[in-house]
Amino acid sequence: MSMTTCAGASDCVATGASAAGHLNATLIDLALDVLNEPDPWRKAALTANAAALWRSGAVERVAPLTGSSLAAAAACVPARPARAEGIVQIITDRTKAPRLSNRQALLHNLVHIENWAVDLAWDVVARWGTDPTLVGALPRQFYDDFVAVAEDEARHFTLLEARLRGTGSRYGAFPAHDGLWDAAAATAHSLPARLAVEHCCHEARGLDVLPSTIAKFRGGGDGETAALLEEVVYPEEVGHCAAGVRWLKHLHAEARRLHGRQRTAHASCGGPDGSADGAAEAAAGAGAGAAVAAATAPAPQVEAEGDARARLQRMVLRQMKGQHQQPVAQADGTKPPPLPLQAQQMQQGQQQQLEQEQVQQQQVEQQVEQQQHQQQQHQQQEQVEQQQVQQQQQHQQQLQQQQQQQQQQQQQVRQEGVEPSSMPAWAREALSFESPEAWFHCLVLQHYGNLKGPFNAEARARAGFTPEWYEPLVAAAAKKGGAGAAAAGGGAAAAGAAG
Ligand SMILES: [Fe+2]
Ligand SMILES: [Fe+2]
Repeated sequence: MSMTTCAGASDCVATGASAAGHLNATLIDLALDVLNEPDPWRKAALTANAAALWRSGAVERVAPLTGSSLAAAAACVPARPARAEGIVQIITDRTKAPRLSNRQALLHNLVHIENWAVDLAWDVVARWGTDPTLVGALPRQFYDDFVAVAEDEARHFTLLEARLRGTGSRYGAFPAHDGLWDAAAATAHSLPARLAVEHCCHEARGLDVLPSTIAKFRGGGDGETAALLEEVVYPEEVGHCAAGVRWLKHLHAEARRLHGRQRTAHASCGGPDGSADGAAEAAAGAGAGAAVAAATAPAPQVEAEGDARARLQRMVLRQMKGQHQQPVAQADGTKPPPLPLQAQQMQQGQQQQLEQEQVQQQQVEQQVEQQQHQQQQHQQQEQVEQQQVQQQQQHQQQLQQQQQQQQQQQQQVRQEGVEPSSMPAWAREALSFESPEAWFHCLVLQHYGNLKGPFNAEARARAGFTPEWYEPLVAAAAKKGGAGAAAAGGGAAAAGAAG
């Protein structure tokens, strides 16, 4: 089974053991089991079982709780759901598709679409149930809806495939194309785009064509298939279109709710009480005060240096005076007569005094060096304190710049409705549209194309998909003339109506 312990998408293959048997299985695990199941019949059976587990509460959590487990689960969502080879011949050239006037081919086409529709519903659950930007925006009812859609589509596949066999044919008897999934893959980056294109265009298109399809079977004598489509498939497809409308409206409303919360959060950042600014100013003030205190503090006792130099000069003068009193020779070159004993004693005394003064001189020099060293340390400390003051001033300037940027962002939001970059991309996109209908129009034009009637207005209305949603897209096509008309319904033609 494809429990979310896999390290990457390549490890996410079905192994035959279902996540349903795991005590800590989540709805994402169940969805991945279905998406990675290649056999179409087993895919339908797994879906029915997963829906029962979810509805009964046997599986309670949507997704893993930790960010790393959520990322691992997201990595397991396949870019393309598994498909067993050799069951259906897939064609890429749609001109070679079987003529749907053949009732068996028409029924086969419906079976193939329902098979893909199962994966489409689970893909919504797995892909956006693991999207961290949507985890808080999607309530449990969202998953209830898409589990129900998956369950419906699996039932449609099972019933229609059985009916196909009842006509003497089988699933795989005709070639088919995978345009429905190809169209879905083009919106894998965006839940709003997926809801708009898959559920409000393809599913709604299915509602448009189903009455005529039912009439074909009934007119061709296949009342059994007609009844199955009319009584089971048709009413449930209304709910699938309704899910797209409901959750697109929800995302639009959720973006506005986030917008309000965002605005409140920004207002509290630089509130009128100025608490943050006050703290910053206090911090800056403390630094400046320290610098001022350092600048006005009494200097160390360096005046001793001047005294020491004066004393040194006096000692040198005394030393020079003593030397003059001891000439080494007389002017005529003869040795000086020996000094009397008293004079010798005086000379020895002078020498002792000189030696003492030399010792004192050394001590004074050491003291001067110490004082110079202390003065250097003091100067270095002053430099450090000045740097601290400069850093605090820079920090205060940065705070002021941030506050100005926040004010500019808030002003921009008020004037243009643009959200701060911290909001999810889908929410910023939603906020740029006044209504979910306007957002839908843009999404459809970007990812599908213009719409072309006739529309089943009654069935669409039951899905909450009223004309203001889709009529403007027809008007847009008419205004563009031939090119627009040619493009009209292009998405439906390419992908076919959803099951
Ligand atoms: Fe459907
Ligand atoms: Fe269906």
